Amino acid sequence: MNRGRKAGEKRKIPGTRSAELLVLRNKFIPQAVFQVAPVFINNGKGALIEDVDGNQYIDFTGGICALNIGRCNELVVSGIREQLNYYLHGNHNTVMYEPYIKLAEKLIEITPGQFPKQVLYSNSGTEGIENAVKVARHHKGRYGLICFEGAFHGRTALAMGLTSQVKNFKHGFGPFDPGIHRFPFAYSYRAPFGLSADEYGGFCITKIEESFKNYIAPDEIAAIIFEPIQAEGGYIVPPKNFVKGLRKICDENDIILIDDEVQVGMGRTGKMWAIENFGVIPDILVTAKSLGGGLPISATVARKDITESIPIGGIGGTFSGNPVSCAAALKVFEYFDQENLLQRATYLGKIVMNRLEKMKEKYSVIGDVRGIGCAIGVECVKDRKTKAPASGLVSRILKACTEYGLMIMYCGHYHNVIRFMFPLVIKEEELQLGLDILDNAIKSVI
Ligand SMILES: Cc1ncc(COP(=O)(O)O)c(C=O)c1O
Repeated sequence: MNRGRKAGEKRKIPGTRSAELLVLRNKFIPQAVFQVAPVFINNGKGALIEDVDGNQYIDFTGGICALNIGRCNELVVSGIREQLNYYLHGNHNTVMYEPYIKLAEKLIEITPGQFPKQVLYSNSGTEGIENAVKVARHHKGRYGLICFEGAFHGRTALAMGLTSQVKNFKHGFGPFDPGIHRFPFAYSYRAPFGLSADEYGGFCITKIEESFKNYIAPDEIAAIIFEPIQAEGGYIVPPKNFVKGLRKICDENDIILIDDEVQVGMGRTGKMWAIENFGVIPDILVTAKSLGGGLPISATVARKDITESIPIGGIGGTFSGNPVSCAAALKVFEYFDQENLLQRATYLGKIVMNRLEKMKEKYSVIGDVRGIGCAIGVECVKDRKTKAPASGLVSRILKACTEYGLMIMYCGHYHNVIRFMFPLVIKEEELQLGLDILDNAIKSVI
């Protein structure tokens, strides 16, 4: 029997049991580990979560885009159960196993680029990025990396250097890798000098090109690494000419283009890979999060000529490409096909955009609504003219959402963007109810 509140009903946060666990959490776990809400999950299915006090939540966080196929997806769970009958840990360095190869075959088939590729596995998005940089540097014999303002590529020592936000991701954790060079990302909502999106896209590309004359020689750059839609940075969709410009710079200067699809890939935009929306083919693509359907796994899919030169032992890891995670990932792709999930992402995205556009008409705090498919961000401002970020207001909106049973998160340079990461299997009535809760929350705090 459900003891708590349904989504849409007000509840006390945290509930009694969550509050008890919170005491232990605060004793044993560093505060540095961020939480959206002070509640503990009891179970989850699809886009619904029930906490340990029996309260129900609609999940617009999807475990931060790790659950595009929903919580406890039955097909994925069946694949996991099947694999559990045989072996849990393979370690491809000692004894090889089939799911590792089958998944690589699938990834090579469905990632952009008709050239030969190979797959390097690891356990997290960050490690996937590290592998991409490692092989790019080794292959080119160069150390330089170009990355962007607003980027998030992870939390390990190298990836943290590539990540942009100082507070709270970098401050006090340096020094960072000396090969890193950062350039502006084409964040058109905040384009300077009144430039249009395309003009700013072109401006950002020119900045890199000019730097090759007065800052760093292009033959010292191994790779350009970027997110086709900047996620933690604020769900920023760059203009096409920016992404195409990056490809052109790489082609003209023999530089490797690394596409970080960790957050916005795996079908979120209505295409399997976000970069497909820009008509650009990367040399290396990194995927993680939703790849394992809830289990940890990441894959770095690279041109074969890049990976071939790495010596034996140069890449690996005890748990990399764990067989249970590989089995789960194979089922994730099967589920995408079975349920036409890409089409569904486009369909759901339109519903959300429609509702958000209406909210924008009602609430002047909404400065910008942007996205592709279900990779959507709503940027809140104090004033539409000055675009002063309304970070505190967003925190209050999200808190009000949680109190009524909607789990939802912010992102952005100024923590003033509300982002949408719900599982693509969300039921339409759950989606609409979640949007109702958000609408009421905005109304209640402005
Ligand atoms: C674009 C992007 N790259 C890399 C990472 C790091 O992934 P992980 O947290 O799995 O290490 C993230 C995590 O949010 C991400 O959004």
